Amino acid sequence: MFNSRIIGLGKYLPDNVVTNDDLAKIMDTSNQWIVERTGINERRHIVKGSDDSPSTMAFKASKIALNRAGIKASELDMILFATLSPDLYFPGSGVLLQELLGISTCPSMDIRMQCSGFIYSIATADQFIKSGMYKNILVVGAENHSGGLDMSSRGRAVSVIFGDGAGAAVLTRENDENFGIKSSHLYSEGKYAKELSLIGPSTQRWVPEIMDANDPNDESYFPFMNGQMVFKHAITRFTEVINEGLKFNNWESKDINLLIPHQANLRISQFVQKKFGLSDSQVFNNIMNYGNTTAASIPIALTEAWEKNKIKPGDKIVLAAFGSGFTWGSTMIVW
Ligand code: UT7
Repeated sequence: MFNSRIIGLGKYLPDNVVTNDDLAKIMDTSNQWIVERTGINERRHIVKGSDDSPSTMAFKASKIALNRAGIKASELDMILFATLSPDLYFPGSGVLLQELLGISTCPSMDIRMQCSGFIYSIATADQFIKSGMYKNILVVGAENHSGGLDMSSRGRAVSVIFGDGAGAAVLTRENDENFGIKSSHLYSEGKYAKELSLIGPSTQRWVPEIMDANDPNDESYFPFMNGQMVFKHAITRFTEVINEGLKFNNWESKDINLLIPHQANLRISQFVQKKFGLSDSQVFNNIMNYGNTTAASIPIALTEAWEKNKIKPGDKIVLAAFGSGFTWGSTMIVW
């Protein structure tokens, strides 16, 4: 029986910083509202016409992660690509990343679990490694939200929150069972699928149908979020799934060296911090600078925490996410 362990991390954020004041110039919002309700000060948006896309941003983050891991792309046995905003409707962004990395053939799988995508991907990679089937797996989360947001006042409740970016992690086989991914805990509840969703374009709302309707009030191709409902479910599910991971490993909240919650809303992270009685140094947040980058948010935060020397060998690290689906999950790691 093998364990799996993260041995390299990388992140990439587009250069273009969009502040709350920038948004207030194009829609009916304010720095005060955004900071009070979400904790966000600024986010990064891809510049239209630049070469940034989910796969190219993932490529940049992956190169850093591979370099830090000390392994070549050719040594990868598998790519798992978490995104809700793939480059193309099909095929998935995983194959595009594979080509950019110069790997002629390997399994490349997109994981469409939205904000929980990185947790699901880590859990999947962990199982492939534990089973002995693969040794080295690249897991990435990357999103281009900005191109598809309603940047008018109509879309303000959603569009001020989301940002673009990518994060990557290289996992490998670990023979010492005291280190690495200890457990993952995954859930979904499709009853709430439409509470945080993008309906069109899809097979329920094909592009020709949208074009034929030619309706300026058509919002079906912008993301929809029932914010208050998502918020209420998020704080409950975050708490449950972190508790489950702690119990499973016989850990207590005081044992957590660092909790890295999916960066959905600073108020959600603060609620969870309070619920578990964690100090500021036990929780890492960077939503202030990047907004909510969905599947990319945990790997970006994990990378940044590692770069800031907040993660040391032997530390107990907890990752947790909640989002569209609804989906949620946690991963418990001994670094
Ligand atoms: O990552 C995936 C998971 N996503 C989440 O976890 C997000 C969960 N939800 C949230 O983070 C929060 O619900 C939001 C940040 C989206 C919204 O905050 P809220 O405190 O729930 O605000 P609200 O939707 O109840 O809106 C309050 C008011 C409304 O005005 P009225 O009806 O009280 O007059 C909105 O129209 O704020 C208004 N509003 C805004 N005002 C200024 C909504 N968006 C904005 C805005 N700027 N951007």
